Amino acid sequence: MDHPLITVLPDPEQLAGAAARHIAAQLQLAIARRGIAHCVLAGGRTPLPTYRFLAQSTLAVTVDWGRVHFWWSDERWLPADDAASNQRAARAELLEPLAIAHPWVHTVDVSAPTAAAAAADYESCLSRWLGDRGLFDVVVLGVGEDGHIASLFPGSSTLMPPEGRRVVVEHLAPKLPSVRVSLTLMALAAARSHVLLIEGKTKAGVVRQLCEPSHSDLPIQRLLALARNVRIYVDEAAFSHRCVSRPGWTQETWTQRPPTS
Ligand code: 6PG
Repeated sequence: MDHPLITVLPDPEQLAGAAARHIAAQLQLAIARRGIAHCVLAGGRTPLPTYRFLAQSTLAVTVDWGRVHFWWSDERWLPADDAASNQRAARAELLEPLAIAHPWVHTVDVSAPTAAAAAADYESCLSRWLGDRGLFDVVVLGVGEDGHIASLFPGSSTLMPPEGRRVVVEHLAPKLPSVRVSLTLMALAAARSHVLLIEGKTKAGVVRQLCEPSHSDLPIQRLLALARNVRIYVDEAAFSHRCVSRPGWTQETWTQRPPTS
């Protein structure tokens, strides 16, 4: 599927359930085909209900979590136990409830002396497990109101990293904290499937921009131009009805409550 499928859900709870079911299915497919799955987790608050659904619903027993490698799209340069840490949030909502303690939880080493050192270490870890051309199986992302993804912000030099780099440091993020370690656009695009989670009325503006091809310079649009199997889950509060006009894009609207388990 070359063009995104946008699924519009009535509320955040149903968005989380629908996205969790799709993520679980992609992980199951990867494990069935290759015996392993590489899953990139998003930061921020939007994915947390989806993580909770994955960990607490009947989906939890449908995935062989021992075969899933976890990565992060980006990490804020904060102590691992900081309330705003992306890895702390994912541990609390997903990894700990699933009792995942295997060594394939690849967090950014925020105890490194510098963010640059942590980025270099993450780059090496990616090479170790994925080689130079390996693909993630699922990349989960939120989207900022300005169209940023991970810690790739509009106009930032991190959008044009040195050739081949898969991890960069953002020192001037407009969304605090200002220092972050992020996968690059090319690294995020190197995936068999992408799951974008967009929720709440504050994101209505970026959804409208998504639906207008003219805003192609946004980081999220640049990813969509590279990605080949994208599911966008958006709730009614964030949805712009213009999306139906985007050539090639498919839209489905869920009005009835899908199964919650
Ligand atoms: C971060 C995230 C960032 C996030 C968007 C949306 O560390 O902040 O990686 O890219 O996904 O800013 O954030 P919310 O989901 O909190 O709205």
